[in-house]
Amino acid sequence: MTYTDIEGKEKIPELMLKYEFALNILETHLNILIKEFSFSHGYNPVEHVKSRIKEENSALKKLEQKGYEPTYYNIANHLHDMIGVRIVCSFLSDVYDIVDLIKSSPQFKLKEEKDYIEHPKESGYISYHLLVLVPIYLNDTIEYVEAEIQIRTMAMDFWASLDHKIQYKFSKTLPNEISEKLYDFSLEINDLDRRMNLLNNIVKRYEEK
Ligand code: GTP
Ligand code: MG
Repeated sequence: MTYTDIEGKEKIPELMLKYEFALNILETHLNILIKEFSFSHGYNPVEHVKSRIKEENSALKKLEQKGYEPTYYNIANHLHDMIGVRIVCSFLSDVYDIVDLIKSSPQFKLKEEKDYIEHPKESGYISYHLLVLVPIYLNDTIEYVEAEIQIRTMAMDFWASLDHKIQYKFSKTLPNEISEKLYDFSLEINDLDRRMNLLNNIVKRYEEK
């Protein structure tokens, strides 16, 4: 399939520019929120933050996978992760602190929330997702641009990165013996995160003394 004649093609550069503006705003606000939190708590819960705008070709491929026509309209209306930000935290409790921080910020509107920590996906995938609307100011109007924020621990990130690499090697579904192992490993990672968090609670008690 070639994407040269997609409907509304001429409007795509402007749409990509809006994503760029929205990501800039989102990154700035997130940086401020995290720095302010670190300052007031004397502790930085974030290991690193990564962000990306989905490329046009990946967007069209994803539409095809989801069964939508590759059109400008469908990119703008059916892809919720054209803007993606991943916040990788140290401990499990840090993930919830960051989630609360973002949810209580007046800078974004919360559109949807998915707690794949409490309810892991069938694959074993664990993370916390927030879909937010970022306001951008254009020609006297405010437009709200959707962005997906994934918040997870380093252990969850380790699992998701390797899972992604393995999935990539198979064009269709994973053979059972592989998906079952990946699922088992995700349980171990979940367990390790919980034990590390308990250990950190003990560490905190020492710090209080
Ligand atoms: P998408 O069509 O991919 O957007 O799925 P969705 O709308 O159901 O959204 P969901 O929040 O479930 O997942 C979106 C993102 O989470 C994906 O783009 C991945 O980055 C990540 N993700 C979800 N499931 C998995 C998984 O099984 N393995 C890995 N490695 N990442 C996953
Ligand atoms: Mg999604």
